[in-house]
Amino acid sequence: MQELPFSQASENNKQVILEILKRHLKDGDQVLELAGGTGQHAVHFATKLSNLHWQSSDIPSNVDSLNLRIAVAELANLPKAISIDVNHSPWCSYKPTAIFSANSLHIMSAGSVENFFKGAGELLQTDGTLAVYGPFKYAGEFTTASNKDFDYRLKDRDSMSGIRDFEWIKELAAQANLTFIEDNAMPANNQLLVWKKAK
Ligand SMILES: C[S@@+](CC[C@H](N)C(=O)[O-])C[C@H]1O[C@@H](n2cnc3c(N)ncnc32)[C@H](O)[C@@H]1O
Repeated sequence: MQELPFSQASENNKQVILEILKRHLKDGDQVLELAGGTGQHAVHFATKLSNLHWQSSDIPSNVDSLNLRIAVAELANLPKAISIDVNHSPWCSYKPTAIFSANSLHIMSAGSVENFFKGAGELLQTDGTLAVYGPFKYAGEFTTASNKDFDYRLKDRDSMSGIRDFEWIKELAAQANLTFIEDNAMPANNQLLVWKKAK
């Protein structure tokens, strides 16, 4: 069998993320995952939340690799991932009641982050949930020295990437008609930010 893509970070954080998502997702939700990566989150959440529908996605060049794990899982509520690049709209015909993305905003360029929130605000249904997991800066400061090192390594690899300012993200979300609900401090110097789509 072909080796499945694997991320140790996803393995470590999937259960703690699930515990927060459980408070915000409900039976029957149609969840769109952006930047699905290895599919470990998609498979774990679709397995544990079997009464909702999980549609994962990634950029065209990553979607086949994402689908390796999704195909092996054979879950009725987890169809094959679709191609979505946040910079190309319309994203999809899927009408999500929730959108989730992990560890993507610090990988994308600043322009892509703007398109991420614009697209999420347009696509989400009223009262829909947006949940975003990853590291953030507050008032221009890294939360830890290790996040500062991580930011340095990210920029060394791709000067367009980097840990984003919470205040900027919050402003982008507000412009997209998304109401900030909560900021959950997570293990390993990460946050899980949650918004609701306003009427
Ligand atoms: C560090 S990985 C995170 C993957 C997974 N969500 C996780 O937590 O392990 C970053 C992801 O962002 C995706 N990505 C980068 N640019 C993107 C874009 N413009 N639109 C959508 N996804 C993008 C990459 O393909 C990759 O899957």
